[in-house]
Amino acid sequence: MKKFPKNFMIGAATAAHQVEGNNVNSDFWTMEQLPGTMYKEPSLNAVDHYHKFKEDIQLLVDAGLNTYRFSIEWARIEPSKGNFDKNEIEHYRQVLEFCHQNNVTPIVTLHHFSSPKWIISEGGWESESTIEYFGNYCRYVVSELGDLIPYICTINEANIGKQISKIMKRVMGNQSNSGKDNNGNIQVGLNFDMKAQMEKYFQALGEAFGIDPRNVQTFHSPRTENGERIIMKCHEKARSVIKEMNPNIQVGITLSLYDHQALPGGEKFVDQEQHEDFLNYLPYLQEDDFLGVQNYSRKIHGPDGVVNPDETTRLTKMGYEYYPEALGNVIRFVAKHWKKPIIVTENGVSTDNDEERVEFIKRALTGVHQCLEEGIQVIGYTYWSLLDNFEWQLGYDQTFGLIAVDRTTQTRYPKESLSFLGNIKKEGL
Ligand code: BGC
Repeated sequence: MKKFPKNFMIGAATAAHQVEGNNVNSDFWTMEQLPGTMYKEPSLNAVDHYHKFKEDIQLLVDAGLNTYRFSIEWARIEPSKGNFDKNEIEHYRQVLEFCHQNNVTPIVTLHHFSSPKWIISEGGWESESTIEYFGNYCRYVVSELGDLIPYICTINEANIGKQISKIMKRVMGNQSNSGKDNNGNIQVGLNFDMKAQMEKYFQALGEAFGIDPRNVQTFHSPRTENGERIIMKCHEKARSVIKEMNPNIQVGITLSLYDHQALPGGEKFVDQEQHEDFLNYLPYLQEDDFLGVQNYSRKIHGPDGVVNPDETTRLTKMGYEYYPEALGNVIRFVAKHWKKPIIVTENGVSTDNDEERVEFIKRALTGVHQCLEEGIQVIGYTYWSLLDNFEWQLGYDQTFGLIAVDRTTQTRYPKESLSFLGNIKKEGL
């Protein structure tokens, strides 16, 4: 039996916009409602985690898990510029207190993709002013709730904009491509079947945010090099604000990291991707306390670039390869360049067959355990996701959760994989 250290964190993750419901002051809510929207469906009530968080965290506790990663929603805390909402702080205080009462370690993400609508109208994630605005929001949250938060992820998947830029270039550049073929080529839930409607959608975007559509820069917009710099400056700003107020809080960022593998001749592509996904960011992270690693699959590179899966490849419901060993490989690669603690802040699989999820968790955590044996400082693992939820532009069809939800009644149905993960915490692999 392979046991994890007693203080090793094992749990599950969510993000506010994907589970809470009615995130009405956010940019994503606005985009979901537009004519010609890229979203397959709007988030609406989501899985009503806003009201059912106790039930959900209780299910995690009953399974034997001891860690919950969730995000605080900026659009709730600061629905309009400079106006902070005390009631929303109280809501998150209750979530945090409920975690502590149940011996669950909370890992809080301050920004998980969705932003207040107003920030986009002010120039969003390509605007210098966002650095100050983000700092103000972080200062407010930490001044109110800091004592209850041991770990903070400032920004979720800070590197996703670059991944999105690459794939958008490919979709837009190829007029004969409907976009369909690109589903599965990006890690997060984006909808490329809608290419034909893009122009109409972008125009509506501009109108909704009251600015030139070319300047609408949400967190899922393709990002320029300047935008990359701004996001890292936001991270640095958040870290210094947090540390100034509460040096005990452990601060990190999370990155979406593929396991890049080379066939003969593909080595240069692997080097390039590893630089773009990870190594480029390291200078900004030197003062961080931990790194959040998020991994879902691998990418294979041949002499002509990425080799797409063929009909023999086992795929997940997201369309990319089912390959749980990617996680251990990524941790090993990261550990060559990062000597401080690593938390696996996301790893999981979308599938309708829960046995596949059990197998995925078993194989992925076997990789994590091997990394521990090799002396790598991994201190936690939160499976994505606690609940089936809103997978961004792909809507509610994707099923990553350890708990299924009937959204007509908001009834929870824990899956076998939830108790399987809990047993790993209790007894080992
Ligand atoms: C994101 C989640 C998303 C998950 C599954 C990650 O990119 O952080 O919000 O739901 O992947 O696609």
